[in-house]
Amino acid sequence: MISHTVQTAPIAGQKPGTSGLRKKTAVFREPGYLENFVQCIFDGTGGATGKTYVLGGDGRFFNADAIDVIIRMAAANGAKRLIVGQNGILSTPAASNLIRKYETDGGIILSASHNPGGEDGDFGIKFNAANGGPAPEKITDAIFAKTQEITEYRIADQHAGDIGTIGSFTVGDCRVDVIDPVDDYESLMQKLFDFDAISALFAGGFRICFDAMHAVTGPYATRILEDTLGAPKGSVINAVPSPDFGGGHPDPNPVWARELVAIMESKDAPDFGAASDGDGDRNMIMGKGAFVSPSDSLALLTAYAHLAPAYSGELAGVARSMPTSQAVDLVAEHLGIACYETPTGWKFFGNLLDAGKATLCGEESAGTGSSHIREKDGLWAVLLWLNILACDGRDIVQLRADHWRNFGRNYYSRHDYEEIPTDAAEALIGGLRARLGDLPGTHVAGMEIATADDFTYHDPIDHSLTERQGIRIRFTDGSRLVMRLSGTGTQGATLRVYLERFVDRSGDHDQDVQAALAPVIAAAETLADITRHTGRSRADVIT
Ligand code: G1P
Ligand code: ZN
Repeated sequence: MISHTVQTAPIAGQKPGTSGLRKKTAVFREPGYLENFVQCIFDGTGGATGKTYVLGGDGRFFNADAIDVIIRMAAANGAKRLIVGQNGILSTPAASNLIRKYETDGGIILSASHNPGGEDGDFGIKFNAANGGPAPEKITDAIFAKTQEITEYRIADQHAGDIGTIGSFTVGDCRVDVIDPVDDYESLMQKLFDFDAISALFAGGFRICFDAMHAVTGPYATRILEDTLGAPKGSVINAVPSPDFGGGHPDPNPVWARELVAIMESKDAPDFGAASDGDGDRNMIMGKGAFVSPSDSLALLTAYAHLAPAYSGELAGVARSMPTSQAVDLVAEHLGIACYETPTGWKFFGNLLDAGKATLCGEESAGTGSSHIREKDGLWAVLLWLNILACDGRDIVQLRADHWRNFGRNYYSRHDYEEIPTDAAEALIGGLRARLGDLPGTHVAGMEIATADDFTYHDPIDHSLTERQGIRIRFTDGSRLVMRLSGTGTQGATLRVYLERFVDRSGDHDQDVQAALAPVIAAAETLADITRHTGRSRADVIT
């Protein structure tokens, strides 16, 4: 193999955020930008010599070019073997599974998740460690440190072989195995769930609409739901991945998955609706005319997971990100299992899962998953729901209503203010942070503040400390307000305001969500002066 060493210099701003390095696609296409970061992934993790990696992405614009570069760089850095999804396609959960199944040294996943793709959209790259999970902060910090001192990168001159065909080729001493992206993932799902019960459900006339949003789950959902489980052809919509996600925003929430919402609100709505995001790790769940909030979904899955073969024994525990509603806490308490509260980002669940402390995990941002891999998993959540519905017999809307009757309802919503000036966002959070000590005992919007802090996470396994993870304000009536800045945006800052109000078992569970949250929304405005700081009287995206 002919390879050469290219002189380079540090490029500012290559600090991984909540989930890897995300930038505008145009930034990734600047000379050396991708190459520098990839070299630093190798250098920050002890070099690539003799190692095996999984490599794939969500198929967005620049995916194939980036894969060619990474194959050549891995080979030039001495990697022994690469496992690459055909056409460079791997959903994030499928990549996590492959890393674990084939005991590789890690994987490189190309995705900017739910962010739009295309030439003017976003691109991203993430390193996952040998446990299959997103690199923990000590690794991302080491990679970032390398980006600040890099002087050269190594790359093979030879273009990589054909990744469109299943089979193997070599680049120098590095063997590249091109595999079917769905096979291994499907066999994992078959082990976890009662496929016979789900097939029988479909055979009995149960109808589903799965919106793949022109993104990576199209081939996975079509194969598993339609071909294997027998859902009628056409149950999966927008099933062909496109480089710009059909010009859409592959974010499975009621704002962006409008097509699915319209279908589920129509007269002849199917029994169950679901959507997944750009890279297949998120999920959105709907019943006829009803959106099931991700926080409620996590609580319900925890309550009924025992109906699926893989979770029929006792759950080790559950974990949720701090801003996720406390609905699952109530279920955990009822089951007598531990419930962990972690900072935002799947990487914080890794230690708990590895240590066997948690079986199910979830985030309010449409992320749910379990110990089967080390990423959240959109299609897994859909299959677990189908398994539950197949065995329980109730419809999803009834199941949820009964759940609220048993546990009470945690009304929940997230208000996002996008692309606001970074200074304004920091002034808002900084101003609130400075006043936290004075807030307990004071009244706002008719509610009394019980506690106010900036969330610090003490990892119970490796004892690391992660500070400043979001302002938490709890009220004496059980309501809660959380504010933090996004770590995945690529332009300006995004303020996320998380609102929660608890209504007990005997209360009214059928209110409009925003109306039920009105006092908490008013408290957020009073406490943080959102309108003044952002110059906006309303959030840009309300989910
Ligand atoms: C967002 C979500 C977070 C999720 C992450 C990656 O991060 O809020 O829950 O883990 O995307 O999918 P944020 O932009 O809030 O930092
Ligand atoms: Zn994603």
